[in-house]
Amino acid sequence: MEDANTDGRPEAAAGRAADGAAPGTALPDEAVLAEAGLRLDVDDAVATVTLNRPEKRNAMTFATWRALAAIGRSLPDGVRVVVLRGQGPSFSAGIDLAMFSGEGGEGFTDGADAEATDRFIAELQEGYTWLRRPEIVTVAAVHGHAIGAGFQLALACDIRVVADDARFCMKEPALGLVPDLTGTKPLVELVGVGRALELCLTARTVLADEAARIGLAEITVPRDGLDGAVADLTAALLAVDRGASAATKRLLWQAAGNSLEEQCAAERREQIGRLRELSSR
Ligand code: CAA
Repeated sequence: MEDANTDGRPEAAAGRAADGAAPGTALPDEAVLAEAGLRLDVDDAVATVTLNRPEKRNAMTFATWRALAAIGRSLPDGVRVVVLRGQGPSFSAGIDLAMFSGEGGEGFTDGADAEATDRFIAELQEGYTWLRRPEIVTVAAVHGHAIGAGFQLALACDIRVVADDARFCMKEPALGLVPDLTGTKPLVELVGVGRALELCLTARTVLADEAARIGLAEITVPRDGLDGAVADLTAALLAVDRGASAATKRLLWQAAGNSLEEQCAAERREQIGRLRELSSR
């Protein structure tokens, strides 16, 4: 298994951004990842991002989301599957509640400057949006609590493999806030607007059985089978042609927003690309 910053790409320390990544070049280094509460392992075509603050139930800070965005920007080209998992008893207990008080560093914005707050939240959302890129398939391996920002991280992935001890909760409205880390759209797409309203506005906990029943979990396994199930899924995903995988992901993610006519046209377009690619091999 390769170390995070030994992926064979140039160590572009000189151009490194504040988030630890020089766009398009080196992955965030060990120190940046540790500060963000993350671990990154890149093993050929598979990158595993581990939420790695088990003593705080993998609570996430602004640094976590910036580092996730940096990983997305600098992922080696050969990576095809990205797995997100949590170390310790939980996937993630959501935002580090210390962020609200500003304890230990940067605090929460009061929203007084709308434009600055908009930019600030957009920057954090980038930690989640790259997980939809067609060239990769993203898998959330969820066990224990997935609360608030942690639930949204699982929703940002393409596929959720869920252990039988998983507990999902969209806590934000109970704290006077809205889910703003890209989670509202996939939640509605997966469970429908009525169920999404019910879950968010009661902030109730959804256990693994129900998660599977209502479409939040694509695969449910016993807790001790989670790693094996993710490994099997990863192997199956890697067995499919890379170009076909990316084209199919593009098609499936645009299907809900397209008319039948638009989607048929998109299928034709993608298939022409596939046929050309296959015949040129
Ligand atoms: N932020 C900071 N610290 C957290 C944390 C969080 N979100 N969740 C847990 N921890 C810390 C605890 O304070 C505790 O630390 P100490 O040992 O130093 O006291 C440690 O992690 C272990 O926590 P518990 O003893 O509570 O562990 P548990 O297994 O009994 O319970 C839990 C786990 C149900 C996740 C519980 O800790 C909990 O409810 N945490 C808060 C969850 C929460 O409200 N998250 C915010 C959601 S909203 C959001 O994410 C998005 C947003 O923008 C608002």
